[in-house]
Amino acid sequence: MTIDNTEGARAQIGVTGLAVMGSNIARNFARHGHTVALHNRSIAKTDALIEEHGSEGDFVRTETIEEFVGALQKPRRVLIMVKAGDPTDAVIEELAAAMEPGDIIIDGGNALYTDTIRREASLRERGLHFVGAGISGGEEGALNGPSIMPGGPKESYAALGPLLESIAAQVDGTPCCTHIGPDGSGHFVKMVHNGIEYADMQLIGEAYNLLGSALGYDAGKIADVFTEWNGGDLESYLVEITAEVLRQKDAKTGKPLVDVIVDAAEQKGTGRWTVKSALDLGVPVTGIAEAVFARALSGSREQRKAAVGLASGVLADKPTDAAQFTEDIRQALYASKVVAYAQGFDQIAAGSAEYDWDLHPADLATIWRGGCIIRARFLNRIKDAYDENPTLPSLILAPYFRDAIETAIDSWRRVVSTATLLGIPVPAFASSLSYYDALRAERLPAALTQGQRDFFGAHTYERVDAEGKFHTLWSGDRSEVQV
Ligand code: 6PG
Repeated sequence: MTIDNTEGARAQIGVTGLAVMGSNIARNFARHGHTVALHNRSIAKTDALIEEHGSEGDFVRTETIEEFVGALQKPRRVLIMVKAGDPTDAVIEELAAAMEPGDIIIDGGNALYTDTIRREASLRERGLHFVGAGISGGEEGALNGPSIMPGGPKESYAALGPLLESIAAQVDGTPCCTHIGPDGSGHFVKMVHNGIEYADMQLIGEAYNLLGSALGYDAGKIADVFTEWNGGDLESYLVEITAEVLRQKDAKTGKPLVDVIVDAAEQKGTGRWTVKSALDLGVPVTGIAEAVFARALSGSREQRKAAVGLASGVLADKPTDAAQFTEDIRQALYASKVVAYAQGFDQIAAGSAEYDWDLHPADLATIWRGGCIIRARFLNRIKDAYDENPTLPSLILAPYFRDAIETAIDSWRRVVSTATLLGIPVPAFASSLSYYDALRAERLPAALTQGQRDFFGAHTYERVDAEGKFHTLWSGDRSEVQV
């Protein structure tokens, strides 16, 4: 039931779910001059926010969902910032019961895009607009300017877009927020963003490991290398914070903090979702998959403990020219990163085709230039590449990236082969290079795979010199028939 309180209905936006992300977004809206209705399951969080930050803008304190909904101007806009999964469904149901046709519910959590498709369809039937919005930038971004990826009905963007754009990060005067496409598309692209984030972090991790294990650099020295890299083509948020993390000293031991952190990476699941979706779509996101598996391997602590001391074989000597090898790693990191983004954009194109979303890669590159975790200088280059050719078959074919890889290729090969000879794992560097080599190969061993499939399952094959499908009578006279 809606409380008809036209007098009190003065908030432009409501935020429910006031953990750190929710409170920070609410404060961001308020700081930009919007009146924000606040709601949380336990009122203590609402009161704490008002107590600590009430002076930052105009907040409306509400206790019940009815009061919350009654505090909003029409069309009502409510941003849900609760845990993805069942808690989101529960809040949506309560809100939907209190709202009216034309009102807008926005889910700003990391929801699985297929859940968003389901929720959008069911709320549409009730006349409500449901917007699944990917929001990236962590706690700091939520407060000072995130990158926002709202999907859902286009018409809802007219009422919602200006509000979201006002709190988003801005790059060269352009907000890092745009309408992505229908139903689950916003959460889909946020999911792929996170997959790229996983790959980027894994590649940085491999570079860090090589600098440490192959060149013997300590954390402080590696921090200096990353700081230097951040001044060039690799400039990005993740490279910048890598240097900061590496420079941090542990108060208890005086050692670099990174050296006392357990080397088992956790994950909440968006990287895994990206890979599962890529498998269904048939898109080889090998860099992202390696990153997800590398986290899983690092977390296999019992197995790892048992395997320490297994044979390494004869290992090569460490590189003698440290400066050259450092530059090789930088080049390998850049080229592998291009591959990771190329694969992510391929997945977005495949998702767009599968769900009929009509997604525009240049728009995504534009809104990922600021605010989000994968923000990086080279997103400008990606934007340029897709502006020039929106149907680019692969990012690595864009002239700029083609040249960049040509420059990096010898270093890339040296890094992968040296790491292998030194027994240092580089799954993402190596698989990215193999992906690149496979993509540019004139012939792949898949011809043999097709022959084998035809042998044991009569699955047929195509010929290089004729149209149609063929089968060899393997258990007969081995002549070929057209099928
Ligand atoms: C972002 C981050 C954010 C979050 C990830 C971390 O874009 O702001 O991606 O969504 O930090 O959920 O994911 P993992 O816990 O899986 O590393």
